[in-house]
Amino acid sequence: MAEQQRIIINGGKRLEGEIPVQGAKNSALPLLAATVLCSGECVLHNCPHLSDCDAACRILECIGCRCRREKNTVTVDPTVISGTEVPTQLMREMRSSIIFLGSVLSRCHTCRLSFPGGCELGPRPIDFHIKALREMGAVIEERHGYLECSAPKGLHGARITLSFSSVGATENIMLAAALADGVTEIHNAAREPEIVDLANFINKCGGKIKGAGGSTVVIEGAEKLAGCEHRIIPDRIAAATYLYCGAITGGELILTGADHAALRPVTAVLEQMGCSIYTYGEGNIFINARRPLTSPGTIRTNVHPGFPTDAQPPLMALTAVSAGTTVFVENIFENRFKHAGELVRLGANISVEGRVAVVIGVKSLSGAELVATDLRGGAALVTAGLAADGTTRISGISHIDRGYENIEQVLRSVGADVKRQ
Ligand code: EPZ
Repeated sequence: MAEQQRIIINGGKRLEGEIPVQGAKNSALPLLAATVLCSGECVLHNCPHLSDCDAACRILECIGCRCRREKNTVTVDPTVISGTEVPTQLMREMRSSIIFLGSVLSRCHTCRLSFPGGCELGPRPIDFHIKALREMGAVIEERHGYLECSAPKGLHGARITLSFSSVGATENIMLAAALADGVTEIHNAAREPEIVDLANFINKCGGKIKGAGGSTVVIEGAEKLAGCEHRIIPDRIAAATYLYCGAITGGELILTGADHAALRPVTAVLEQMGCSIYTYGEGNIFINARRPLTSPGTIRTNVHPGFPTDAQPPLMALTAVSAGTTVFVENIFENRFKHAGELVRLGANISVEGRVAVVIGVKSLSGAELVATDLRGGAALVTAGLAADGTTRISGISHIDRGYENIEQVLRSVGADVKRQ
């Protein structure tokens, strides 16, 4: 069905107030996949209402788990796994469904899923995932667009070195290793906070994972894993986005339930741009922005604890109206500047050459009709629309709903003139 709804913003309103930070999408997805490893009920608190989380629950139900949601708590009963195929439609809808491969293979010794399509950010291959699982004893054949995976004797531990600190590959290996026979070492592992959250969950279920958050993660395979109750960490990218929204409107916001440490790469840039930021108490972040902000210079995205690629698109919107020239170097994805063209429609001065984008700050933006083509690019358009004179209408908002819980209600609650129509 052609998408009819749009987000409509009348820009220029200064944001002021308090925003509770949602649970992390990029932790909820691997955690939902991890419930497949468990032989008892799992309760996940602070699970955001997002279409990607709904898709993950649909995958769990397709393979026989029972899922139920009460507000932001999702309960999964994985005692009976009656299927091992991830439906093609769901693989297409959410390429990160590949994260189910490790846990289904580890629990059931067989798994079938269609090759995840590329996505708006570039080809997004899964070669690191496949190579690692083969080293753990999986037989994986690609046939007619499907991955036929089996581990007749079960998976076994292995010493794996990733050529790139891939988040998804690190998570998939942890999931596969959790019930494998023996010890698995992951060298050059991803160090994102979501990796630590996954390790904490698996350890709560009786797993033995050490070193998560560092470059070497060691997983001792368990016979069986029980269920557990777990609170998902806060979403550092949603938090970054709302900090940018406060900054671009010259506003004053308090984020509650945030993780200061995980946000340090982002708050450091905002302070460099002239924002005042104070962190206090259990996860509170205060931001005050005196416009005009100044350019942060060069932003190079990198693996954690470098500047997060997911926080690059909405930051570009902020630099579009900051004094000076900002150079973005996108080192993680091949094609993550699609939002630049849409920002130019608002009057931004941005030129893109491959993985480099040059943004020359302008005094103001003016509202226009925009199209979101990916999740964080859509967030960039919303961020810019808040500061643009006049009305900005954004279509393609199903992309935004994949990662931001009730974004227009959140922004309206702190003074934005925004609605979904
Ligand atoms: C996770 O994606 C996140 N998604 C992404 O967030 C995030 O941008 C990314 O990590 C980097 O931080 C989830 O956690 C669900 P990668 P993932 O494997 O695991 C290449 C968002 O907006 N690569 O670290 O797919 C790949 O092409 C999303 O919330 C291979 O070449 O990221 C990319 O260039 C977007 N072969 C780079 O590595 C592989 O087998 C980073 O990928 C796997 C990845």
